[in-house]
Amino acid sequence: MKGKLDPYRAIDRQRQPHSYVEHLEKRGRTPAQARLRRRFLRFAKVARGQRVLEVGSGTGIVARDAAALVGPRGRVIGVDPSRVMTEAARGIARPLGLGSRLVHEVGDGARLRFATGRFDRVVAVTVLLHVQDSDAILDDMLRVTRPGGILAVQDQDFGSLTLDHPDRALTARIMDGVVARMYPDPWSGRTLFGRLVRLGLGRVRLFVDVFQDTTLEPYTHAMLTRRAQNAVRLGLASAGAAARWMAAVERLAAAGQFAFTLNYYAARGVKP
Ligand SMILES: C[S@@+](CC[C@H](N)C(=O)[O-])C[C@H]1O[C@@H](n2cnc3c(N)ncnc32)[C@H](O)[C@@H]1O
Repeated sequence: MKGKLDPYRAIDRQRQPHSYVEHLEKRGRTPAQARLRRRFLRFAKVARGQRVLEVGSGTGIVARDAAALVGPRGRVIGVDPSRVMTEAARGIARPLGLGSRLVHEVGDGARLRFATGRFDRVVAVTVLLHVQDSDAILDDMLRVTRPGGILAVQDQDFGSLTLDHPDRALTARIMDGVVARMYPDPWSGRTLFGRLVRLGLGRVRLFVDVFQDTTLEPYTHAMLTRRAQNAVRLGLASAGAAARWMAAVERLAAAGQFAFTLNYYAARGVKP
């Protein structure tokens, strides 16, 4: 089945589920990712006093930023099907002293336990590309948004990924070949605007942001290493070719010539 290799579909069933906690936190600490988050939450119009739901909240990186924005009178709930992620999110949030302003719960985005129209803002960041039936999640996100409230989603689109590498053919085989077999919907980003229009939301807007890395950040290094390993596993490259490809990436970085970009597409709309 497509997406079987994607660990984010079922974190708790992975051999080392905690490694994904570290991976997400590593990603979140990258300055370019912090900027993406800030701009997405501004685009979603998250503001003081609101009730915000984040679906697929992982370790709570986005939810923590949202909690800062809603202030002491607001409330943010993060929902994620992974117990490991949810416990990690609670542990990371505890010392921040946010109290009941930020709550993390275990739950499936397609079966939210909340009353219809409960939230001012409902968001999901880099979640829909990881799930088989993301329409069901969008439907339930819309259900729990109040009339006049905003539903906003953001996903990478792996068709927009660029990496300057001397072996372009192998780079395409590794990068495009792996995501096509790994994620349920690697090109989700470009679909978001149209999907919100089709859902019947009003004033639908598109916002495209770019993750760029010119220093081979630990997060990007881990991602490219995993892509190379999966390319070998999927028979897209030999172990030798994948190792040489990764060594060339590291040489570029050592020479200060590493350049990697990936577009993040966000769409928002108002519930009628
Ligand atoms: C790449 S992580 C993103 C986490 C967080 N939004 C962030 O940006 O750091 C994807 C998350 O989606 C969650 N997820 C997977 N299937 C889901 C579902 N059916 N409903 C809600 N979340 C889901 C995973 O457990 C994982 O935590």
